[in-house]
Order: sequence, then C-alpha cells, then structure tokens
Amino acid sequence: MPATKHLPKTFLWGFATAAFQIEGSTDVDGRGKSIWDDFCRSPGTTLDGKNGDVATDSYKRWKDDIALLRQYGAKAYRFSISWPRIIPLGGRNDPVNPKGIEFYSDFIDELIANGIVPFATLYHWDLPQNLHDRYGGWLNKDEITKDFVRYSRVCFESFGDRVKHWITINEPWCVSVLGYGRGVFAPGRSMCPAKSSDGDSSTEPWIVASHTILSHALAVQLYRNEFKPTQGGVIGITLNGDMAIPYDDSPENSSAAQHALDFAIGWYADPIYLGYYPEYMKQVLGDRLPEFTSEEWTVVKGSSDFYGMNTYTTNLCKAGGHDEFQGFVDYTFTRPDGTQLGTQAHCAWLQTHPTGFRQLLNYLYKKYKTPIYVTENGFAVMNETKMPIDQAVNDTDRIEYFRGNCEALLAAITEDGVDIRSYFAWSLLDNFEWADGYTTRFGVTYVDYETQKRYPKESGKFVSKWFMERLSSG
Ligand code: NOJ
Repeated sequence: MPATKHLPKTFLWGFATAAFQIEGSTDVDGRGKSIWDDFCRSPGTTLDGKNGDVATDSYKRWKDDIALLRQYGAKAYRFSISWPRIIPLGGRNDPVNPKGIEFYSDFIDELIANGIVPFATLYHWDLPQNLHDRYGGWLNKDEITKDFVRYSRVCFESFGDRVKHWITINEPWCVSVLGYGRGVFAPGRSMCPAKSSDGDSSTEPWIVASHTILSHALAVQLYRNEFKPTQGGVIGITLNGDMAIPYDDSPENSSAAQHALDFAIGWYADPIYLGYYPEYMKQVLGDRLPEFTSEEWTVVKGSSDFYGMNTYTTNLCKAGGHDEFQGFVDYTFTRPDGTQLGTQAHCAWLQTHPTGFRQLLNYLYKKYKTPIYVTENGFAVMNETKMPIDQAVNDTDRIEYFRGNCEALLAAITEDGVDIRSYFAWSLLDNFEWADGYTTRFGVTYVDYETQKRYPKESGKFVSKWFMERLSSG
C-alpha cells in the first residue's frame, strides 16, 4: 500500500460560519439593524418564512461552539464580524459600540486559548440598515468606501493584535447579483417583479461590484500602510466561483466554459490580481461595466495577499444561455449521455464533483499566481431537515463529498504543486441558509432548532480524522 501523503505542517484546516447565519440576538447589547433583519421578515423572502432572530443562538452559546471546534480538533476557525454590532449605525462618524468590541474580543481570546487560529471576515453580507437608508449602501461609492474603511480600521485596531488572517468581503458576486440583480438576497433590489423593490438590475449589480472591489482594496491599503508593519498579518478577499467545464467538445461550448468563469470569477479576480476586467465582460456589458480611474486601479491591482476560494460544485456549460449574470451561458449537471455529474444535494445548484474542484484549484493558481486559502467548501444532504436526528447525523453523501474534495485538494498540493494554505468546511453548524431559511442544512454538526442542542454528524468526525491523519508526523 502506498504511504499516505501528507499536508504541509503549516496547513490550516477547520470550519467556517458567518455572523448573521449563527448569532441570533439581533437586538441585544446595542447591535444596530442589518439589511438582513427586515429583509427576511418580509413575506416570500425565505423558503420557510423564518428569519435570523435566533439562528443557532451562537451570540449566547459561543463557548459551546468553540468547545465543539476543539472536539473536532480544528486548527483554525473562519467567522465573520457583524458590522452593526461594532458600529450600530455603520457610518464613519457614528459611535463604536463597546459591547460589540468586547464580544468579538472575548471570542478571539477564547479561540486562541484553545489553540485555534482566528480567520476573521469583515463583511459577510450584514450591511448596517442605516447605511442603506441613509445613502443607498453599496450603491454610493464615496460614502460606502469611506465607511467600510473606517469600520475596517476599528476592527484592525481592536483585534489585529490577535487576528493575523483577514478577509475583507465574502463573495461580492452574491452581494451584487443576488442582492441587486435577482433581488433574492437583501436588500432585494431587482427589476424582476417576483421579489422586487425598486432597483435597476441592468446597471446596479455592476456598479455595486465595482464599489465592493474598491472598498476591499482601500481596506487592504489601510491595513498594509498602518497595521501590517506592526501586526504582521495577511489580508485578502474571498470570492465564490465554481469550476466550469464544456458540455461537450464543440468549440462554442469550450468558449462558453471560459465565459462562465469570466463572469463568475474573472469579474472580481481579474481586476484584483491582474489589473483589468475580462475582455468578454467588456464586450458584453460595454459602458455598463464601470471603469476605475487610474488612481483607483493602482489601489485595486494587487490588493489581495491570497486568493480566498469559496467553491461548491462544477457546472457543465452550454453556449446560448439567456442569463446575463452567467455570461449568457447555460449550466447543467446532465452530461450528453444522460448521466449526472455527481450526487445531487438538497439545493438545485450543487452536485459533487472532486475532479472539478482539483481543476479549479489549478486554474486559479495558474491564472492568478497567488497562494490559495480554501475558505469554504461544503454540501447539503437532500431532505436532511425532514430526517430524524439519528438518520441526519449519518450523512454519507456529505462524507463522500468531503472525501472526494479533500483527496483532490491533497493531490493538487502534492502532485500539481498548487500552493494551498487552508481548507475550511462549510459549516461548523447547520444554520440560517439565507433565502432557504432553515430548510437547507450545510453543517457538519446537526442543530436541533427546538432545543439548540448540537449533534456532531459523521461528516464532522470524518473531516477531523482525515486532516489529523494527514498532518501527523510523516
Ligand atoms: C457561501 C456563503 O458564503 C455562505 O454564507 C452560504 O451559507 C454558503 N455559500 C452555502 O450556500
């Protein structure tokens, strides 16, 4: 039998969550409202009509969460800081909330006391509602960039002595497309009548995207100029994006796969790592794609110390689609011979496909030439929420997903030479899955929402054992 291959000793693995999805306690200790608070209260925005008021109650049970991480043996934990807890009204002249600072400070101390490396995300979609009401939130370049930078400063000052891994913004594609294009995420702006308010989906998503990129880049500039010299951490952005492969070997479907990657990943990654927008996006969008000034380009280009990679699946791509946000490419999981790419998850957009995961790691490393931190990867088992707990914790499909992708990760490191520094499974706990409410479970730990009791699933034990074995001596 060949000897087990090993991961580099410095490799960090663990689990990820986000503030709004787990914390609950939305109106305690001076927290301000976020755009998700009211959004998910309006009818039709979440599948089960539920909201984030309690979630997994982690604002109160955070010590239990850390004990759970410890039980799994995690080396790192990726969590997000809630902007409206730190600055309830959000703005650069608004007061800082000492209770918010204290909460995350104690939390970070406890992680470190347990030997767990904190990875902090500054923005995981919970914009202070006041900034949206005051000036249109992400739509207003001058205001949002300044307010995001000030919020970032407060976090670097308060936690940067202990946090050495910073992520500015999580999945800006979702902020733009789902929040301002399709209107299915807060703040729900869209031209589509189904969910709509009063947005203009033909321009807003592209504008919002450029403001998220610029806000990220200015926060990084601040960190590098004023904090990194003494605090010595790394900072970058986390982008979502799934591998895209051609449906068949026709030339138009080969181009379609590249077009899909351009719209899903290149939209953000090309400016940040390479200093320009993808040519195909420029052709399709014309002057709807906002240009950065030359001064802004110097801030944007090179503004990430690493590539934060959130990925879940692989799509087969066909030319001739109608969805502009997918670059006019159709996605399918059904191969030309009728077979499926992998095992179907509870959500329609997700099937297992470890080969695609490995291909994506290679694609990103070759194109952007920067270390990769896998900041999210996970699977939702079909109908898990309808199962009795003892059946749900026996989550074989999720184990197969993690087994495949972890082996692919190892091969990408040891055989392909990709520089990968972390792997975070999404998620430590079942939690509030945005527009899906609590109907979709991504956790490696089952949460009984009636009692808030946590039950480790077999997948959590699997991930833990898999990484421990590959990090032990050898
Ligand atoms: C990515 C997002 O960052 C996270 O919030 C979400 O729950 C997972 N994808 C699963 O959809």
